[in-house]
Amino acid sequence: MVKKNDGRTAVVFDSGIGGLNVLRACALHYPQLKYIYAADNYRVPYGNRSGEEVFALASAVLDGAMSYRPDAVVIACNTVTAECISELRRRYPIPVIGMQPAVKPAAKFGGKCLVLATAATANSLNFKNLLSKYYPEAEVFASQELADYIEKNVFSLPETLPKDLLPDGNFDAAVLGCTHYMFAAKQISRRYSCQIFDGAEGTAARLGEILGISDHQAIKSGKTDHAGALSVDISFYGGNVDKNSAIFKQIFV
Ligand code: DGL
Repeated sequence: MVKKNDGRTAVVFDSGIGGLNVLRACALHYPQLKYIYAADNYRVPYGNRSGEEVFALASAVLDGAMSYRPDAVVIACNTVTAECISELRRRYPIPVIGMQPAVKPAAKFGGKCLVLATAATANSLNFKNLLSKYYPEAEVFASQELADYIEKNVFSLPETLPKDLLPDGNFDAAVLGCTHYMFAAKQISRRYSCQIFDGAEGTAARLGEILGISDHQAIKSGKTDHAGALSVDISFYGGNVDKNSAIFKQIFV
């Protein structure tokens, strides 16, 4: 059993359920923090909205979450990061950690690569710069529907996703450039028989680095202790609190 929190709080934010995958990684590595999962499920998807709209929606939720007096905010959403991370950093006087599609590790892996992202992320300047710097050969699929489909069907995702939600082709690797897609990682990997890359672990590591805290997973490596034995202080704020906490219980094992 791991000790209770060290007195510091991190808000983990996403439009909907996607960021729960990032929260999971953060909680497993840094159970000493207290977490607030902030979401906006009734306005998903953000990925088909303008930058101004995304900023207005995200900051409305985050303004409320500031009442928890967090020490850091994790934007567990590629779309919000792509659209308005600079504006959010200007608005909140604490570290605001963003996430970008895991193009860099995929480029190291090499081969034919597919980057899946929301339309907002795929069309953003931040993402275009990232791609041209690290993996200009990668193929990008901008999806208007996949995040929403996963948000609605997360409790009963089929073994094979509807065909029109993913592009045809053969790929060695797929980058899940939207945190919602992590719930369909198995289906996507099976569809292309490919390696999957996502940004959850990297984002969690950045949180630990920014707060200067030790990584519980690294400390316990080699021991039989497992995640189920962790005691982490997590609260849910905004959006569909019952849905988010139910899903988190399912994946936090
Ligand atoms: N989970 C968000 C992301 O990582 C997007 C979902 C949405 O479109 O709201 O991009």
